[in-house]
Amino acid sequence: MAERKPDIDIRIARQSDISAIAAIEKESFSDPWSEHLFSEAISDATHFNLVMMLKEDLIGYIISTKLLPDCEIENIAIKSDLRGKGYGKILLNDFLDHVREAGATRVLLEVREGNKPARSLYESAGFKKDGVRPKYYIEPVEDAVLMSVDLTENKEGE
Ligand SMILES: CC(C)(COP(=O)(O)OP(=O)(O)OC[C@H]1O[C@@H](n2cnc3c(N)ncnc32)[C@H](O)[C@@H]1OP(=O)(O)O)[C@@H](O)C(=O)NCCC(=O)NCCS
Repeated sequence: MAERKPDIDIRIARQSDISAIAAIEKESFSDPWSEHLFSEAISDATHFNLVMMLKEDLIGYIISTKLLPDCEIENIAIKSDLRGKGYGKILLNDFLDHVREAGATRVLLEVREGNKPARSLYESAGFKKDGVRPKYYIEPVEDAVLMSVDLTENKEGE
């Protein structure tokens, strides 16, 4: 299992988490999801969504679709003042452990070409670049890098 930190809890996202999730989303993305989109994702059975709690505070989340054997990460973010401290890596590795146990064999995602912190995070969790989707993003226009990790391979570091 992923390394843990004291006072951290990772659990399934609930409707009551939406305003805290949306606040982090707003400070993280130039084209943020609305609360309505998060509400749909949380009530949709094909989604698998986790939140990271530091004591009573929601400090991060991951929203994904789980259509086994594949999962696709739609959003992941950590509260801006807590980035670079290892929380994103713990959340992502915990997510990968959960979906692997649920029968997923592959996790896919798209990331902005210039999003170095996110690309480093994914690479540190074993994701590899599969290709590029030109001009996929808006505000600003930017290429998407397509990445995936094969969960049937040995875990990173094992
Ligand atoms: C991407 C994000 C979730 C990473 O979370 P985090 O808690 O800051 O990441 P961590 O501290 O766990 O670091 C994970 C890895 O990324 C690397 N990393 C983190 N911040 C970095 C930065 N600013 N520049 C380069 N690498 C960075 C770390 O070195 C670490 O790799 P390592 O363990 O091999 O050393 C966070 O930066 C974030 O919320 N960004 C805004 C939202 C976003 O862009 N989401 C991704 C959309 S595809």
